[in-house]
Amino acid sequence: MDRRQFIAGSMAAGLGAGLGGLLTAGAAGGAPARPVDLRVQAARYPILETVTEGMVSLSPDAPPPVLKVRQGHVFSAAVTNATPDHTAMHWHGIRVPNEMDGVPYLTQVPIGGNETFQYSFTPQDAGTFWYHPHCMTMEQMALGLTGVLVVEEEEDPGFDADIAINLRDFRLGGDGQFIDLYTARGAARGGTRGTVITANWKTELIETVPAGGLVRLRLVATDTTRIYSLAVAGAEGRVIALDGHPLSKPRPLPDMETPLVLSPGQRADLALHLSGSEGHDVTISTRVGGRARPVARIRPVGGDRKRSFEELRPLPRNPISEPDLANAERHDLVFGWSPDGTAPNNGFCGTMGYTFWSINRIPWPGDAAKGTGPLVNMSLGKSYILRLRNESPNQHPIHLHGLTFKALQSNQRAISPHWTDTILLLKNEIVDIAVAADNPGDWAFHCHVIEHQKTGLAGYIRVS
Ligand code: C2O
Ligand code: CU
Ligand code: CU
Repeated sequence: MDRRQFIAGSMAAGLGAGLGGLLTAGAAGGAPARPVDLRVQAARYPILETVTEGMVSLSPDAPPPVLKVRQGHVFSAAVTNATPDHTAMHWHGIRVPNEMDGVPYLTQVPIGGNETFQYSFTPQDAGTFWYHPHCMTMEQMALGLTGVLVVEEEEDPGFDADIAINLRDFRLGGDGQFIDLYTARGAARGGTRGTVITANWKTELIETVPAGGLVRLRLVATDTTRIYSLAVAGAEGRVIALDGHPLSKPRPLPDMETPLVLSPGQRADLALHLSGSEGHDVTISTRVGGRARPVARIRPVGGDRKRSFEELRPLPRNPISEPDLANAERHDLVFGWSPDGTAPNNGFCGTMGYTFWSINRIPWPGDAAKGTGPLVNMSLGKSYILRLRNESPNQHPIHLHGLTFKALQSNQRAISPHWTDTILLLKNEIVDIAVAADNPGDWAFHCHVIEHQKTGLAGYIRVS
């Protein structure tokens, strides 16, 4: 199949009403689902004291909502583009049919102004995922368009509260308005950091929950650059899932000595038991320049619910195919710097004007470039071990669409394998990952530091 063979979306006009904080969608398997209308549009919001203009969201005056969908139920979204630029929506971590993956030129035509693309898929895996544009990615993500997508388990695990925390930066000046979204210097190194760290677009997020209750906290790193080192203080608890998938053995809560590292694209689900008395907040902090910077507080209120962890149903494992390591085919992928080459040809999807990075020493020639073959050809049903080698002094969160993999070993650290779609490669690190190629299509494979992705560190893997 030719990757230039576009799959056009339905052009049905979206209704696109303004959205509240949360949307629930989904219908029983097979039954026609009522699509949610998502309208990509200009927004403004008081991130600092003054209102920040020129943002991009799904409503004129609020962050992108938490989308709630049900495992095994059809989810349909009519995405209408109400901006003058092009766009396309990607559902990060969800194993969708290829034509629903939202990657411009690879899986669909970019959505032009006033056009609508009809997305529809049935999530097989329950857990914490997210959505973001994959066309004009640098601009639209930096200006706000990153949201949490929750796939609810068929059976309620029994928490008293479920809180999603969307962690991201904005690059704002002292007047609260956007400054340059990136710099060439940043793009050629570790990426350009934001100036304001936020949680759900707030600089000091406070969420209230029932005292003595059990809380599921979903931490989602949606920033274009920042790698978070997170600590949780003030509650008992466990890390119960990473990158959408339950851990077979829950891990202790992170603290400042052993932080939870979440790089762009990664998620963590925490089960917390809140204090039974008011005045005992849980604090989530990230390390900035060696110091703990609080990003969110969870505040117990009301009478003591006296819940205990034993009352929770363990999260059921997701139906992921186990790779057959004994018969796996091996491939090497090298990530490195590459200052030569012209600016990638991204068609309608935005260019940063530079090439700095490469995979297997070839910079990605752009989303709209012609004649670009896959990095790896996989046979449907076979297993693969990919050796990911970082030849650079920068870190790269490497993300694969459409398939879920696990790390096997690293040359620098002990790995306890878990299912994921995004793995952080440390400086000069070599990591082997294993994957069963069970979902056909052309799957984007790139660094999730968007400045790296857009300046060459991108490609795709074909499963056929
Ligand atoms: Cu989260 Cu290719 O993206
Ligand atoms: Cu993705
Ligand atoms: Cu990178």
